[in-house]
Amino acid sequence: MTDHTNAGAAHARRDEDILVITIDHPPVNALSADVRRDLSAAVDAAQSDPLVRAILLVGAGKNFIAGADIREFGKPPKAPILPDVCNQIEASQKPVVAVLHGAALGGGLEIALAAHYRIALASAKLGLPEVNLGLLPGAGGTQRTPRLIGAAAALDLMLSGKHLSADAALKAGLVDTIGEGSDALSAGLTYTRQLLAQGAAPRRSRDATAALADRAAALAEAAAAGEHVAKTLRGLYSPAKIVEAVRAAIEQPFDEGLRTERALFLQCLDSPQRAGLVHAFFAERETTKIPELKEGKARRLDSVGVVGGGTMGAGIAVSVLDAGLPVVMVEQDDAALERGRARITQVYDLLVKKGRISADERDARLARFTGATSYDALDNADLIIEAVFEDMDVKLGVFAQLDRVAKPGAVLATNTSYLDVDRIATATRGPADVLGLHFFSPANIMKLLEVVVGAHTAPDTVATGFELARRLRKTAVRAGVCDGFIGNRILAVHRQAADMMMEDGASPYDIDAAVRGFGYPMGPYQMADLAGGDIGWATRKRRAATRDPAVRYVQIPDCLCERGWFGQKTGRGFYLYPDGARLGTQDPEVLAIIDDERTRARVTPRAFTQEDIQRRYLAAMINEAANVLHQGIALRPSDVDVVFLSGYGFPRYHGGPMHYADSVGLGSVLADIRACAKEDPAFWKPSPLLVQLVESGRNFASLNAA
Ligand code: 3HC
Ligand code: NAI
Repeated sequence: MTDHTNAGAAHARRDEDILVITIDHPPVNALSADVRRDLSAAVDAAQSDPLVRAILLVGAGKNFIAGADIREFGKPPKAPILPDVCNQIEASQKPVVAVLHGAALGGGLEIALAAHYRIALASAKLGLPEVNLGLLPGAGGTQRTPRLIGAAAALDLMLSGKHLSADAALKAGLVDTIGEGSDALSAGLTYTRQLLAQGAAPRRSRDATAALADRAAALAEAAAAGEHVAKTLRGLYSPAKIVEAVRAAIEQPFDEGLRTERALFLQCLDSPQRAGLVHAFFAERETTKIPELKEGKARRLDSVGVVGGGTMGAGIAVSVLDAGLPVVMVEQDDAALERGRARITQVYDLLVKKGRISADERDARLARFTGATSYDALDNADLIIEAVFEDMDVKLGVFAQLDRVAKPGAVLATNTSYLDVDRIATATRGPADVLGLHFFSPANIMKLLEVVVGAHTAPDTVATGFELARRLRKTAVRAGVCDGFIGNRILAVHRQAADMMMEDGASPYDIDAAVRGFGYPMGPYQMADLAGGDIGWATRKRRAATRDPAVRYVQIPDCLCERGWFGQKTGRGFYLYPDGARLGTQDPEVLAIIDDERTRARVTPRAFTQEDIQRRYLAAMINEAANVLHQGIALRPSDVDVVFLSGYGFPRYHGGPMHYADSVGLGSVLADIRACAKEDPAFWKPSPLLVQLVESGRNFASLNAA
């Protein structure tokens, strides 16, 4: 091979008569300004080089190209912009081939679609996931994809953001062939040589006509996608723009379509949703940057023990079995163990029934499960997760047993929701091996795992918790020890703010509607009914002795629990669930109970608008989150965001409570808190951190960067 240009973010070398342009920009070959510049220069130089007959685009490392450089969004664009680079590639007078391996996503796939021929290796993942970042494919993707694979398939790809395997991409018509082996360069060269031998000329996606030949059918497909977006993706900005861009691909000549796409892309780029979604993307990748992972390495993790086979124990066991690890479950007695086993089997039977896994796969996963009623069965486990009743004495008893049976170096974890992990660790001789692993219900589905680091937890214990999360494909967030850690501690406070609004005049239905109006899938009272009112009730009783008597205590939720109205499982809670209905209806008796409570508390009810409710709810959340940060319970604001996005249904396009607070302005949040403090000063105490930030003109993002 001969050097052609200087090695840069994209460098070119000639292999006989093929110019190989390698995109070499670790870690994922994102299309930064440098890459675009070098790529554009190399394609340009090839046009006038008589020794070059074809161009091959290849990615260095594990991926072809993961897309536009997301870090550049929101900054002034630098030439050449990606759509122009794609057009330049497409216009090449010499055939351009792209060889796809690993990620060929977003702008990366758009580069490939602008090339004239595409070959994919088995490792390739193709997709247009811009929708997940509040964007649309803005480098010709909305125009070239429908021309290649039709409107319906293109819309499906762009609206779902899903990844296609090489086989699926071949079937769809996105690539021309599948290459052998795992060496992208050699597969690409072989294919390009074949094409040259066949006399292949440039073949441009912009000229493809077959897939959109039936214009009426394509427009009908776009209309159907538009209806789907309006119904199911409510509140999201970019999906409707994607449909509009595809309509342009059907109705407009290519160059005009590109202009339409560009205008729509810029609208998306400017939207607050794009900022929120991009923040969420990076926030999720920050959570593993913690001091303990620099100091310690994960311990061996080949087998897991679970103590307790209730709601959480069974869900955790399924999650671990799904990850391919064996599980030993210990329960109090045979009957409880059988119930635990039945819960696990039920999950898998349902998956088989829904066609998600085969019966053989279910049997294989269940074969990794062992049940026991003696703690001795845990003597070989590398990590043991306790999920018994939320009661300190019971947990202390369990940890004393674990201390007796666990092998040296085994990690001992508690799934407690609120209790003091340091106190639990005192039941053992090795508190360095103890940590909290707070899963969320249903544990086999929810993505979040709070890794609770105690005063004596060793770095390698923490690293093992993060390693478990990685194997379970969960998002781990480091938390410190306090009542409720990050998520539940903050939740308790904004739920209390909601209860106070309820006593002051808003109905639970108004509050739920307002919270849904903000973008949550359900409101706090629907959530309470789903989780079971008894859980919160038990916590409130436990906290009664330490409650600040100066803070107003709203008794309405207790009044419902005293009647045995625990929510869905008892047929009524804040809502009525006749005949096992999953969607509740409003309950006039609940409203009457609330009225009585208002009278008892001598409250004259007043009206709350949706906006009043949303502002108070969020102000309480943000204020307590600031306290959590101030006390070092969360390491950084973006960790709080991830907790709320992946554990509590906070609308992703708002980026999380901290990002949202920055976007509305911390001064405005503090003003809301101070206004509320005039009514309930004991509850609404501005967080010192929030005050400091406002006074110094900073925001939460400035702490992420610190
Ligand atoms: N731009 C900038 N940085 C990126 C990036 C991108 N497109 N994709 C990944 N990164 C960074 C990550 O932030 C991370 O950085 P860090 O090490 O400093 O935390 C690093 O690359 C590795 O990423 P992951 O930890 O996610 O690595 P994985 O191997 O788990 O996953 C991946 C790789 C599947 C490529 C995943 O990173 C991914 O999905 N990336 C985003 C893909 C995407 O959304 N592309 C579309 C971009 S928008 C676009 O192209 C617009 C265009 O239409 C105009
Ligand atoms: P659960 O009541 O459904 O299950 C507890 C199980 O522990 C029962 O099956 C019981 O038989 C068993 N058990 C009790 N003592 C035992 C002992 N000494 N040895 C062995 N097994 C014993 O409770 P759930 O909901 O599963 O909660 C368990 C833990 O998980 C609690 O600490 C809870 O706070 C926490 N948690 C609960 C969440 C939820 O949404 N339910 C969410 C996150 C954490």
